[in-house]
Amino acid sequence: MTQPQPNFGDYQYEIYLNGLDDVTPPYPMTFAGLASAAEAVLPPGVWSYVAGGAGDERTQRANVRAFERWGLVPRILAGAAHRDLSVELFGLRLPSPLLMAPVGVLGICTEDGHGDLATARAAARTGVPMVASTLSTDPLERVAEEFGDTPGFFQLYAPNDRELAASLVRRAEAAGFRAIVVTLDAWTIGWRPRDLSTANFPQLRGNCLANYTSDPVFRARLPKPPEEDPQAAAALWAGLFGNPLGWADLAWLRSLTDLPLILKGVCHPEDVRRARDGGVDGFYCSNHGGRQANGGLPALDTLPGVVGAAGGLPVFFDSGVRSGSDVVTALALGATAVAVGRPYVYGLALGGTDGVVHVLRGLLAEADLLMAVDGYPNRADLTPAALRRVVAD
Ligand code: FNR
Repeated sequence: MTQPQPNFGDYQYEIYLNGLDDVTPPYPMTFAGLASAAEAVLPPGVWSYVAGGAGDERTQRANVRAFERWGLVPRILAGAAHRDLSVELFGLRLPSPLLMAPVGVLGICTEDGHGDLATARAAARTGVPMVASTLSTDPLERVAEEFGDTPGFFQLYAPNDRELAASLVRRAEAAGFRAIVVTLDAWTIGWRPRDLSTANFPQLRGNCLANYTSDPVFRARLPKPPEEDPQAAAALWAGLFGNPLGWADLAWLRSLTDLPLILKGVCHPEDVRRARDGGVDGFYCSNHGGRQANGGLPALDTLPGVVGAAGGLPVFFDSGVRSGSDVVTALALGATAVAVGRPYVYGLALGGTDGVVHVLRGLLAEADLLMAVDGYPNRADLTPAALRRVVAD
């Protein structure tokens, strides 16, 4: 007889058993705890870049609060001893629907300056895929080497130099990434008062540009190698980073790869329908964690419309996920996979790979135990019918 897979929730037994030897978890168990501990260890400029958002950050707060408006209806006698959170995605069978969102400053969140590699190692240890950002301190080939058996996805910021875009995608394919995620809501940087007040934009200072400086097309555009003149490299980067793509460019994006192509930053059903006609393979519903536009609408409120229009194509979701119960809510609203951004970055700042693993295991354990206690043993049981709107008091 085959043994059932261990439940993610078993993480709590590990913690309680360690407690018998007076060992408590080395990292905080709540998002608030992670955030305040990360603030204490990160350089102030990195902290405010990671924690901050656009405008007065009301969209960022709204992203988080939106989850409080949904509740899961408890069911009984569901025989939920074993929970199955696994998901099929582009022919891959993943142990859970959790992903690590692309974050462009992972490299500078660890003291050794190799936070991208530390994150990739956490993907290898947990089976939680990393969506690796274009902006990293180690080239994508090095990042991919650390994935172990866990698949990785590459997030592309399409530069306004088409040859460079094609080169980045070719490299991602060659390095074994399993999908290309094109981010469309950050071709220009949103208005970020925290960063503006310290005049701090990490990439302009030459941080996290390894995918560019290691790229043959980018290097050919420079009079001197970037190692000799990093300032010229950063200036070239600033000139070609953003590409205000239009619908007419979708066919070009599609032509870049035969890998699954996912558009990130999608919130409107009409955009979904139009992009489906353009041959994309999936959608990533997100408002960039409220970092880009302070329009006020929580990303979660746009998820059902995106799912409805996606016509069965996979929909990733992020923005405001802070707990395992948030993961469950997003799944019940139709997300195929749910990503976190800041939570794992704080774990990374606190403990490198171990810190990220702690955060991811905690999120999965909480999601799993919610499904256990409320009687929803399978991913398929989590549908909109399992949720109720919470009546405001
Ligand atoms: C991001 N995000 C992001 N997205 C992307 O597509 N490419 C990138 O390089 C980055 N960089 C980045 C840096 C930092 C510091 C943060 C916090 C976020 C957005 C990210 O993928 C995701 O959409 C949000 O982080 C999700 O919101 P939460 O979970 O942070 O609320």
